[in-house]
Amino acid sequence: MSERAFYVTTPIYYISGNPHLGHAYTSIAADVLARYHRTQGDAFFLTGTDEHGGKVAAAAAAAGLHPAAWTDTLVPKWQALLARYDVQYDDFIRTTEPRHVEACVEVFERLKASGDVYLGTYEGWYCTNDETFWLESKLLDGRCPNPECRRQVQWLSEDDWFFALSKYRDRLLAYYRDHPRWVRPERAYNEMMATLEGGLDDLCISRLGLEWGVPLPGGGVMYVWLDALLNYITALDYTRGGVRFERYWPANVQLIGKEIARFHTIIWPAVLWALGLPAPELVFAHGWMTFEGEKMSKSLGNVVDPFAAAQRFGADTLRYFLLREAPFGSDFSFSEEKMRVRRNGDLGNDLGNLVKRSLAMLVRYRDGVVPASSEQSFGARFDGLGARVATALDALDFRAALETIWELVAALNRTIDERKPWELFKRGDGETLDAALYDLCEGLRWLAHLLTPFMPGTATMIWQQLGLGGTARGPWRDELVWGRLASGTRTNPSDAPLFPRMDAVVSATA
Ligand code: MSP
Repeated sequence: MSERAFYVTTPIYYISGNPHLGHAYTSIAADVLARYHRTQGDAFFLTGTDEHGGKVAAAAAAAGLHPAAWTDTLVPKWQALLARYDVQYDDFIRTTEPRHVEACVEVFERLKASGDVYLGTYEGWYCTNDETFWLESKLLDGRCPNPECRRQVQWLSEDDWFFALSKYRDRLLAYYRDHPRWVRPERAYNEMMATLEGGLDDLCISRLGLEWGVPLPGGGVMYVWLDALLNYITALDYTRGGVRFERYWPANVQLIGKEIARFHTIIWPAVLWALGLPAPELVFAHGWMTFEGEKMSKSLGNVVDPFAAAQRFGADTLRYFLLREAPFGSDFSFSEEKMRVRRNGDLGNDLGNLVKRSLAMLVRYRDGVVPASSEQSFGARFDGLGARVATALDALDFRAALETIWELVAALNRTIDERKPWELFKRGDGETLDAALYDLCEGLRWLAHLLTPFMPGTATMIWQQLGLGGTARGPWRDELVWGRLASGTRTNPSDAPLFPRMDAVVSATA
């Protein structure tokens, strides 16, 4: 379990419209990592919005607004999404903020001074939706080759600034070979390696014809992807010699969706090296949330409204479902029915009932006060469980981490059935009953700790029902020691179930 300062980032979101559930996915995963690392030590979690470029400008124009006014109206919606899902970030950067714009210009000057940026002429195609320069040979039927986009591309012929990306190809190849786990999952690593082996061109990093962006000396604006990537260090006050930068760079984990791997694992490390900085330790390209087989996306019009979903299911159910349903690197299809099954099963029947039954028995047999236990043998079997959850989290295997936590949930449910506290009570076997009740309460204390990163609201409710006050915190290696729950603790159970049963929605026309 790591103790050094931990830095995790999400991509910054294009605010060309309202957020959907797919956007919440990356942020929730980052939040789980940040919350986990905060319990172990220090963590910094950065997210934000990508506000420049033709895509955002076009969306603003369609709404009849200046891009600045448009982004000002949308940012609160994105922040509300994060709040709705209990995503606790340490900083939220907007690329329109002076701290970012000024730092981007400074970086540009540094790159120019080191000879990595030079003036040239760009003749080629540009897809505004993907904010990507495309070679003629890559187009499909004259359109953007990205299967999610396929839009008309635009011909550009302009004097632009270029970044000497090709110069970094050999160093990138060597870095990939020496750090076979720096891009995960393996599929993304292999794809990027193949891209590198296929050769690299220099990258155009300015747009002469655009106004909505970081203004460059001499005219034009910075290419929106370079502007966006730099957020990861401008938020740390990189150009101002910030202490944040000293403390947190290189990032431990940069989370991205798989479609933006090339920007983050080829262009980004090369830019960092050009600045004399190290590459991030890990870039993890997660899969897509799909709906009926297609990526959930605004342009396809198949999005799930994250506010309505949270209203119906609650943030913690969604947080659990999104990270439990599929391995983090794979696509997975979203369905309300699958979510309902998890909600009623894993959450309602397994976890919610466990909390309710355990605390109700404690009230019935011991007036709600945690008894002393004369034996610790039950807990011994969970000795390595916290470390196993930590190992899964270090590997970003959220599903395995949750499965491991549910081993404890299952063991506690099983021990109720096996030890039958009601019979012990009837028989008057007070000592054995005390041990059983203690184990259940201690198991719940463990669950509050283990669930804190994943389901912060639920973890706090369990903690408070145990009568412990505040929230579960502190390093797991100290806290997940069986027997730490003090006997004599007066619990505070609630009558309301943690996860009320959800019925299927029957459509009015059905
Ligand atoms: N602005 C760029 C990122 C710049 S980072 C320097 C961008 N923005 S985005 O809004 O289009 O996407 C942001 C993130 O949301 C990406 O990681 C993307 O994969 C994620 N998702 C958008 N739709 C998604 C799904 N349907 N499923 C999972 N993640 C999704 O790209």
